[in-house]
Amino acid sequence: MVAPPQIWTILAVLQWTTRYFQEKGVSEPRASAEVLLAHVLGVSRLELYLRHDQPLTPEELAAYKALIRRRVQGEPTAYLTGHKEFWSLDFLVSPATLIPRPETELLVESLLEVLKNPPAPGRPGLKEGSAGRESIDLPLEGASPPLGLEVGVGSGAVIISLARELPHWRWLGVELSAAALQVARQNAFRLGVGERVRFVRGNLLGALRPGPRFQAVAANLPYIRAGDWESLPVEVRKFEPREALWGGEDGLALLRPLCQEAHLFLAKGGWLALEVGQGQAEAVQALLAETRAYEAITAVRDHQGIQRVVRARRQFT
Ligand SMILES: C[S@@+](CC[C@H](N)C(=O)[O-])C[C@H]1O[C@@H](n2cnc3c(N)ncnc32)[C@H](O)[C@@H]1O
Repeated sequence: MVAPPQIWTILAVLQWTTRYFQEKGVSEPRASAEVLLAHVLGVSRLELYLRHDQPLTPEELAAYKALIRRRVQGEPTAYLTGHKEFWSLDFLVSPATLIPRPETELLVESLLEVLKNPPAPGRPGLKEGSAGRESIDLPLEGASPPLGLEVGVGSGAVIISLARELPHWRWLGVELSAAALQVARQNAFRLGVGERVRFVRGNLLGALRPGPRFQAVAANLPYIRAGDWESLPVEVRKFEPREALWGGEDGLALLRPLCQEAHLFLAKGGWLALEVGQGQAEAVQALLAETRAYEAITAVRDHQGIQRVVRARRQFT
């Protein structure tokens, strides 16, 4: 057991908690200690160091101890504070929403890459010889203003980040969980895109009328295979919503129907981007190819070299 200090200053508390978390096998011990203490004191993590010799009041210490106890039981830091950063934005999260993962930023990035930067001249839909933005001559149906869709929004991290990056777009988010939808709506307004992002409760695309209305479709659906469930960290398996993770026997229980139907909703030349689990990219690419509706079907690798996103463009013909 770590010996307690004489006076509980901010620095002493951080040092003690870091060692205690290390002993108890808590992930990212120093970062977790800082995030929790900053939350209790209502200051930024940087400010903790500017006030490092400030002693904690008994009330602050009691509130912090209560959080430490829960953290050691496996409760994720983000659920304890109710916040998680994604795309450099502060998102509210609750036990009804998946905690947005840093690797999901690749889904946002992959889509922005093609939506912000039109494909190179000479490719379908572009006027030969003209450059960049002005050269788009895509037969995008209903293109003004462009409309995007996300299926399975959770906290809204993906759709809201996209909406912030593409200020002239409007977005529709579909989600099965009513409790998650509430959090996503709150986040959209807090982050200034509430007027351009609408949310609807639904099962995959079931609540929407088919039609080529969307210029982009994004999804990070559950994809954990049944066989991998037990090897998930306890803090994920025990605390995060199962319906946000469980992908059935092969992990594709939700991705498969989405791959089979998304083209019926995408405008010609519109883009689909899907986050996939490790080892699933090939199967997802094959599902999209089977529809004969896509071109440029590509797997995008994350910084660890894992094929994390599958991206494809709805054919023009
Ligand atoms: C992996 S989480 C992703 C959440 C968020 N997009 C993110 O990246 O942080 C998947 C989300 O899909 C939702 N979901 C699961 N099955 C669904 C279905 N059949 N239709 C719509 N949403 C579904 C879950 O409730 C969950 O919020």
